[in-house]
Formats: sequence, C-alpha cells, structure tokens
Amino acid sequence: MNKKIALLAGDGIGPEVMAQAVRVLDKVAAKFNHTFAYTEALVGGAAYDVHKEHLPQTTIDICNQSDAVLFGSVGGPVDKQHEEKWANCEAKSILALRKAFSFNINLRQMALFSEISSLSPLRHELLKNGLDIVIFRELIGDVYFGEHTLTEKDGQRFAFDSGSYTEEQIRSIADYAFNVARKRKKQLISVDKANVMAMSKLWRQVVSEVAKNYPDVEYSDMLVDNCAMQIIKNPAQFDVILTSNLFGDILSDELSVLSGSVGMMPSASFSASGLALYEPAGGSAPDIAGKDIANPIAQILSASLMLAYSFNMLDEANAVNNAVKQTIIDGYRTGDIMTNSTHEIKVGTTEFTNQVINRL
Ligand code: IPM
Ligand code: MG
Repeated sequence: MNKKIALLAGDGIGPEVMAQAVRVLDKVAAKFNHTFAYTEALVGGAAYDVHKEHLPQTTIDICNQSDAVLFGSVGGPVDKQHEEKWANCEAKSILALRKAFSFNINLRQMALFSEISSLSPLRHELLKNGLDIVIFRELIGDVYFGEHTLTEKDGQRFAFDSGSYTEEQIRSIADYAFNVARKRKKQLISVDKANVMAMSKLWRQVVSEVAKNYPDVEYSDMLVDNCAMQIIKNPAQFDVILTSNLFGDILSDELSVLSGSVGMMPSASFSASGLALYEPAGGSAPDIAGKDIANPIAQILSASLMLAYSFNMLDEANAVNNAVKQTIIDGYRTGDIMTNSTHEIKVGTTEFTNQVINRL
C-alpha cells in the first residue's frame, strides 16, 4: 500500500522521538512491501520561529492532504512561558489542531506485560497478570474549549472558566467506546463527577442510554475521585474507561505511569471525517531534549496505532508492538524506566530503537 503521512514533530523531544518512529516505519515498509511518503510540517514553538504562529495554514493543508497525522509534542521550558513563542503554545497548537479537525475521540492505551511488572511503581501482586487498559477521553468539549477569563472584580483578582457538553458530543464517543469494549473484555466503566457537575449528570444520562444498545457489554459508572483511587488500589478491574476531556487528561497520566513511565503511552485521536492524529500522551520534556535519552516508546507505539487504525495494517502493528515488548523483555531501558535490577542495559533513544528494529 501507498500511504501519505504528515509528520508534525514539534518541540522538545518531539523531533528526536519522531525520527525514531520514522525509522521503525521505514523498516515496516521494507518488510511488508509498503510505501510511506512523509511530509514534514511545523507546529508549536518550531512553527512560531518561522511563521510567527503556532499552527500555520500550511500545516493544516499538509494534514488535509495526508492519510494520517503523526504528531510529536509541543511546548517550551517552564521558565520561558512568558515569551511570546512559548506562551499558551499548547493551546495554540495541539488544542487548535484538535479543534480544527474535530478530533473528538481520544484513545490512550496502557499496557504492562507481566514480564516487566517490575517497571511499575505498584506492588507486583497487583500486577500478576499484567495490565491492559484503554481510556477513551472526549477531546473537544468540557472546560477545554469554554471561556477562560483572568481578570479583576471587586478589587481582587478573579478567574472564570466555563465548560459544556451537548448530548451529541457524549453519544459520539460513547458509541465508539462501547464498540471497542465489545471487541475486548466486554466491560466499560464510565467516569464522571455526577454528584456535583451538570456536564457529568448529562454525561451519565447519555452514556446509560447508549449502553442499552450494547447489552453484551457490562457497564457501570464511577465517580472520578474514586476512580483515581481505584486505579492505584486495583487497576486490574479496568478494561475500557470512558470519560470527559479534563478527567481523561488527568487519569490518562495516572494510568501511563503504571506501566513505568509517561514515555510509554501512545494515543490516537479520531474524527468523523476519517482523518486521525497519533501522538504520545506525554509532553515535550524540554529539560531532556536533544540529549538522545528520551524514551521513544510512546512515539513508536503511536505509529503502530496509526498502522492499525488508519491503514488497517494489523500484522504490521502487531509486529511493531511485539518488537517493542521483546526489546524491553531483553532488558533494554532508557533512563526513565531503569529499575536498577541486574538484567537491565541502559541505552539512549537511538540505540533503543536500533534494538526494536533488529527485532522487527
Ligand atoms: C495531553 C496534554 C494536553 C492536554 C496539553 C499539552 C494541553 O496534557 O494531550 O494530555 O491537556 O490535552
Ligand atoms: Mg495530558
């Protein structure tokens, strides 16, 4: 097959982990006889340097002309947030991109194989059978795209944020998540704060209506504070989690470290148009950028999700996943997933990927 892929590497560790994902894709293309044509496009601070904006129209055009978008990460150092280049960089690039293409469904995949459960901060007995959890996060509603005001009122500083959901927004992602749950363990937990928030009350109503169309899927609701606790106490109870934008942002970071590091979690964002964007769930990590020490796993597994979901190349995606898994089982580790046990071999970004490619 011939596929056109837009590469939006962005800032921080984005370009170096993106380069590794492309090497893996090249190996897949050679092995399975495909042609991947890449078009690089600027986003984030990198785009600002050239265009004085974080999401230039040329980048949107390139995404539109591609079969899928592979995204790296955006954002600058904490101490430089006041600079025009970095101020609100994330909102002006990745959030704007999600909105521009209506990427409303975000899937984040957390997998911890039992062979490497020592990477997890949790006790081994909680992880005996490994973990395999998918979280669906609604991506273009909630407080993310409401009004945000920081002002003064009655002589003191005052902040105001608003958020909203329509029933159609909720139904769209709920349908998608139930369909995926059906192909997995047939179990779905919907997470909200229905004891306080109107958005959550609607969320619960609509999800329970959608659930009636999937009687084969065991469905329940959980409050978000309890969910944060249950993920630590008994993560094996979860298979598919379905939640709103802000809760999904928080819970997906929590889930990601159960597998050892935020550098391990890939994600896919879908829209009704069929175009999808794939990105690591972690950030741009400017403090370790350019040192060849960043963990490339989330970027490589995001490319694997692209193979599976956008190109229907399931054997190819499995081959990549297995190569990553075997590399970890064989002891190769970037610094963030070192546990100081005797069988570990510390390697950098490029060398880790070399080992993945050798196993493909
Ligand atoms: C994520 C990120 C973004 C978000 C930031 C960079 C705006 O944390 O993709 O999880 O909050 O959605
Ligand atoms: Mg986040």
